[in-house]
Amino acid sequence: MPDPATALHPTPRARVQSMMEYHPPLGSRDALRLDFNENTLACSPKVREALARISTGDLTRYPERQPVEALVAAHLGLAAEQLSLTNGVDEAIHVIFETFLEAGDELLLPIPTYTMYEVYASATDARVVPVQAADDLKFPYERLLAAITPRTKIIAIANPNSPSGSVATRSQLVEIARRAPEAVLLVDEAYFHFHGETVIDLVGTQPNLIVARTFSKAYGLAGLRLGLLAGPVELMRWVRRVLSPYSVNSLALACLRPALEDKTYLDWYVSKVLEARKEFEAALDKAGVRRWPSRTNFILVEIGPQHAEFVRRMRVAGILVRDRSNDPGCDGRVRITIGTREQMRQAIAALNDVVAALRIALKSGKGEAQ
Ligand SMILES: Cc1ncc(COP(=O)(O)O)c(C=O)c1O
Repeated sequence: MPDPATALHPTPRARVQSMMEYHPPLGSRDALRLDFNENTLACSPKVREALARISTGDLTRYPERQPVEALVAAHLGLAAEQLSLTNGVDEAIHVIFETFLEAGDELLLPIPTYTMYEVYASATDARVVPVQAADDLKFPYERLLAAITPRTKIIAIANPNSPSGSVATRSQLVEIARRAPEAVLLVDEAYFHFHGETVIDLVGTQPNLIVARTFSKAYGLAGLRLGLLAGPVELMRWVRRVLSPYSVNSLALACLRPALEDKTYLDWYVSKVLEARKEFEAALDKAGVRRWPSRTNFILVEIGPQHAEFVRRMRVAGILVRDRSNDPGCDGRVRITIGTREQMRQAIAALNDVVAALRIALKSGKGEAQ
């Protein structure tokens, strides 16, 4: 047997060797999951019924995405050629970067933002140009405009953004698209349903705008991995060359029609989250915990130097929350997903206990409580 340490073996591309690693803190998540901005309840019961009807034939055949793509496009008021389904927005981001980014190109990225932009960008030969938000974490509009150069090839904006919850306005997005006509403006509307504002109606009229949406959040289908890209036909035909024709599987395809048709369920879930968010915000204010304004199903809060201990103690209390301290400009900050009112009452009770215990520990000079 050759010694594995010294044996010759194939090496990956240099880019891959230096690629940023992403390890989502999954593992045991048998608790109240307020850490990934998922739907905390369920998908529509109509989706469950569709899954129960899956036949052997559905499983043995390769998935046929075109009829479902046409359906989703019509639902969004788009032509079928303007839309591609994807294996979640993650695949959408990956494919857009693979389609457009070359050596010497620049990717403009307002930060902090969703981690996978940087992960997929680090596999390309393009340069990431980060545009840091100020302490208020508002969308850094003026800074972003100032960062546009003739090399700017993609501007990726999560709207609303994660982990900040901040938003860019429609007029800001239009102006950005206008100022960088040779760049793709990718607007990731993963949290659209909680925000209610979109630029998807500009797809086709704004020649460099591509919009991404996901079914992982409000629709409650994160496990199925379903997303979409909507853009002008001229751009989408290149995207389709890179996209695998089979990356959206038959089970996911079968669930799309019932998910889209059950608007009552979707509206009900979103209204539940919005009423819970209001109550949770009031409870955070009462507890004296700094928070950032949110147009989404999560809130970023300031915990301070004991952030890691806070997250650990919340987990012990049965509630998973996400430490965002490693995000640029987010030291000491934790992101908490909003579920239903009942779930958030449980979360606030635990948060009050943990915050009180940490404050006592801090005052008694124990610093990072054990
Ligand atoms: C801004 C943003 N885009 C995309 C995603 C991932 O979406 P998907 O599950 O469709 O890959 C997330 C998930 O947290 C997100 O926050």
